[in-house]
Amino acid sequence: MTTKIVTKENISEAAKCLNEGGTVVFPTETVYGLGADAFNSVAVKKIFEAKGRPGDNPLIVHISDISQIHLLAREIPDNAKLLAQKFWPGPLTMIFKKKDQVINEVTAGLDTVAVRYPSNQIAHDLIEQSQKVVAAPSANLSGSPSPTVCSDVVDDLNGRVDFIIDGTGCEIGLESTVVDVSGNTVTILRPGAITLEMIREFIPDAKLDGGLIDNDQVPKCPGLKYTHYSPNADVIVVQGNKDKVREYILSHLSSDVGVITYKGGEYPGAGLVLDAGDNMTSYAHNLFTYLRRFDKNNIKIVYAEFSVEEGIGVAVRNRLYKACGHKIIEV
Ligand code: TXA
Ligand code: MG
Repeated sequence: MTTKIVTKENISEAAKCLNEGGTVVFPTETVYGLGADAFNSVAVKKIFEAKGRPGDNPLIVHISDISQIHLLAREIPDNAKLLAQKFWPGPLTMIFKKKDQVINEVTAGLDTVAVRYPSNQIAHDLIEQSQKVVAAPSANLSGSPSPTVCSDVVDDLNGRVDFIIDGTGCEIGLESTVVDVSGNTVTILRPGAITLEMIREFIPDAKLDGGLIDNDQVPKCPGLKYTHYSPNADVIVVQGNKDKVREYILSHLSSDVGVITYKGGEYPGAGLVLDAGDNMTSYAHNLFTYLRRFDKNNIKIVYAEFSVEEGIGVAVRNRLYKACGHKIIEV
């Protein structure tokens, strides 16, 4: 298949394609998404095919107007109304009990549906003009990091989708916060830019999913479950005292070793050094595209400087620990 790579000037053409059952990659404020009409099972199947995604992993449905929630959710609890009012449009996905008409291909047979109202203007205009609600996972091949710049999308999906809309880089760089609002408690299933602290400001008893906390804090042997964000290079996280982190990495350098620095640090002798910036917001913005860049440069081992921080740091930690298969060195 020939993929048309276009800019926002051609949104209407891409929207028509979505409307007619095609696949369109579009930028959002989090990562690029691979979209199709959420009520068209043939179209939704194309998403799974293009990504090589297992059919038992459900998709997020994207809306361009708050009223579209009624097409998808059977009931809208007060907590969800509150979160929608505070954080939509934006990087928040909510899990609702689904309406019967929401198709199994989207929900992987679950009784719930994930819904997100993105704030990115291109995403908004595309969804609106398509006159559909749009199922969209991250626009990577299953197994690689989510794409946050158009060239990363092209690397994975050129020839596998109908359209790619080139927006500028995604502002946040990590996928949305996923919050389950379908039960009695509000639970974060996937951390993101909308943090637990931000949600607790309005829903004080909101919590992080237990499995998430364990996965993050107890380094386990690498398992399939943990490595699905991983690049080809082996990633090793080094965290603790800044000087000791540096000393550790310096003693492991060679030309096929890469380093992600955090808050500065020179590593002469490393094959490639990429600077994650000096705060967790910039670490989030850079992480996924850096992981891909190491692979492109044939780096075999990546040492990532890291420090445990709150806020969006929780989401960075979650993605980085997955990328490294929980190979974490505490110094
Ligand atoms: O920022 C994002 O959320 C991006 C952009 C494109 O919107 N999308 C994204 O989609 O990250 P995806 O498919 O890569 O990740 C969606 C996550 C998956 O871990 C999936 O298992 C989970 O949300 N999910 C979807 N529906 C669910 C449901 N009904 N219950 C629990 N988890 C669900
Ligand atoms: Mg994904």
